[in-house]
Amino acid sequence: MQNTQLREILSEAKDLIAKAASRSETDEARIKFLGKKGKLTEILRSMGALGPDERKALGKRANDARAEIEAMLARKFEEVKAAEHALRFSAETLDVTEPGAEIRLGAKHPITRTIEDISRIFMRMGYSVTEGPEVETVFNNFDALNAAPNHPSREFTDTFYVTKDTLLRTQTSPVQVRTLLSQAPPIKVISPGRCFRVDTADATHSPMFHQVEGLLVDEGVSMADLKGTLDAFAKQMFGSDVKTRFRPHFFPFTEPSAEMDMSCFKCGGRGCRVCKGGGWIEVLGCGMVHPNVLRVGGVDTERYTGFAFGMGVERLAMLRHGIDDIRLFYENDMRFIEQFG
Ligand code: PHE
Repeated sequence: MQNTQLREILSEAKDLIAKAASRSETDEARIKFLGKKGKLTEILRSMGALGPDERKALGKRANDARAEIEAMLARKFEEVKAAEHALRFSAETLDVTEPGAEIRLGAKHPITRTIEDISRIFMRMGYSVTEGPEVETVFNNFDALNAAPNHPSREFTDTFYVTKDTLLRTQTSPVQVRTLLSQAPPIKVISPGRCFRVDTADATHSPMFHQVEGLLVDEGVSMADLKGTLDAFAKQMFGSDVKTRFRPHFFPFTEPSAEMDMSCFKCGGRGCRVCKGGGWIEVLGCGMVHPNVLRVGGVDTERYTGFAFGMGVERLAMLRHGIDDIRLFYENDMRFIEQFG
């Protein structure tokens, strides 16, 4: 009776152990047959009711069966352990030859590049680069620059005021004042930076934009020096073929004042889309520094004269690269920015 049972248990154990596919399934099989309430354990326990000879014979068989099951379990355990290891190794393998995920580098912004190009040209001419704050005093941005008390650009509809006496600078020209207050002539500086004006953004306007200011003060500086310097700049920036012309203009802080045009670098002056058919392109504002401005900085106006100029960086960058909407500069679309490397 127990003999048949033993054989059944043994074959059942063989099947179950063969099927076990993990350490935990192997353990379950061990418990099922050899655990405290296991099938084989129950047989061994029931032997107490047998006679001595029967008990001896069955005991030996049962022990043989136990040894056999233990051997199967041990083999299975090694087998699934190895399989689990192999699985874990393959899952956690690092293929060092696999190409890495692409890391996209940024690109220098076209406005930064244009400022760098402008700065390089003036640095070669001996100018140093200085910077002023974007939040300025009304004094530096307007009063010291000889702007009339009722000048329309002072209106809060044109200028972002921070307090009654401070504002977001509307131009880089206040750096002229700062420089004159902190340095004695000879002075030869340019100053790039952000400016702000109350404006609704469209293809050619932005409430935030960039300028590069220039200031030179020394003995015997004349309008001819101004024209020579800015003509040299235009040729280095846009090509040695471009010609420049100066049209009379008005700025409160320069006298005389002018706007410089250059012949269209695209069509050579015959007229095209870039110059809107006129052959000339407006490039910057300039003039001889007004004596009132020089005096704010304590400069002896009998001894020294100077010139100043200011140019819009976005405008120059748009011209150079054929960009037709200023808003493209501020969207940070990599497909746009990457084009200027
Ligand atoms: N600040 C002037 C502007 O914003 C430009 C300028 C600078 C003109 C220096 C003359 C001299 O339009």
